[in-house]
Amino acid sequence: MSDIICIANQKGGVGKTTTAVNLSASLAQNGKKVLLIDADPQSNATTSLGFSRGDYEFNIYHVLTGMKDIKDIILKTSIDGLSIAPSNIGLVGIEKEFHSNKIEEKELLLKRKLSSIKEIYDFIIIDSPPALGSITINVLSASDSVIIPIQCEFFALDGLAQLLSTISMLQKTINPKLSVRGFLPTMYSNQNNLSKQVLEDLEHHFRNKLFHIDGDDECVVIPRNVKIAESPSFGQPVVNYATTSKGSIAYKSLADAILGV
Ligand SMILES: Nc1ncnc2c1ncn2[C@@H]1O[C@H](COP(=O)(O)OP(=O)(O)OP(=O)(O)O)[C@@H](O)[C@H]1O
Ligand SMILES: [Mg+2]
Repeated sequence: MSDIICIANQKGGVGKTTTAVNLSASLAQNGKKVLLIDADPQSNATTSLGFSRGDYEFNIYHVLTGMKDIKDIILKTSIDGLSIAPSNIGLVGIEKEFHSNKIEEKELLLKRKLSSIKEIYDFIIIDSPPALGSITINVLSASDSVIIPIQCEFFALDGLAQLLSTISMLQKTINPKLSVRGFLPTMYSNQNNLSKQVLEDLEHHFRNKLFHIDGDDECVVIPRNVKIAESPSFGQPVVNYATTSKGSIAYKSLADAILGV
């Protein structure tokens, strides 16, 4: 059975997509069979892996609306073991469908669509949009666990209570097995006191919810790193584009922490 992990935070620009793409690629580099699902109409995960609109006809919108089976939209990426279910701006239309009352148990729509592929992949990683709307609720309802990237900047913990209470509501209702896999500090800069303060706050409040590699006292922190910012324009995850960069090493540690190596 696949381990289904989503990356969520309704705050924009905190590193969700970067984390989804690089975690997926690192797990694949470790020999795992991985599907990355782009559930954001912005389709940044799809673009980050080098796909442009003309490269694919169907996307996750067609799956959610029942026009296509998920197996029929999956694309192989240039990374061995990594496939993607792409997105497209057309996915915004799904919110309208959700409001139309034509779909029963709409929160569980994505989960139902994934049932046919759960035996195929070791990991399914889902990138979500910067909102706590119907798409994110569907993503959280379909997942076993959630990774919450926290940008090490001012307002970092803003909105976190709302996200955690949404998760708790889903745990009590339609997805009892959903767990918070961990908080991931992103865009950390050791030159910046605010960054250090956010990390200290996280260590203070959520120590056991940060990612650790076995035997290592320090938690996994993603640094602010120019290679991370550059790599999407080359259509590659940083773990492929600049393998020895600090950003790449940090994302590989995240995969190691998840694999328990
Ligand atoms: N560690 C990092 N160092 C430098 N730049 C980064 C880092 N992480 C992400 N970025 C850049 O910051 C921007 C936002 O990152 P990303 O797209 O991953 O955030 P997001 O949470 O998915 O955003 P959105 O909420 O819009 O979906 C991107 O341009 C990305 O390349
Ligand atoms: Mg994103």
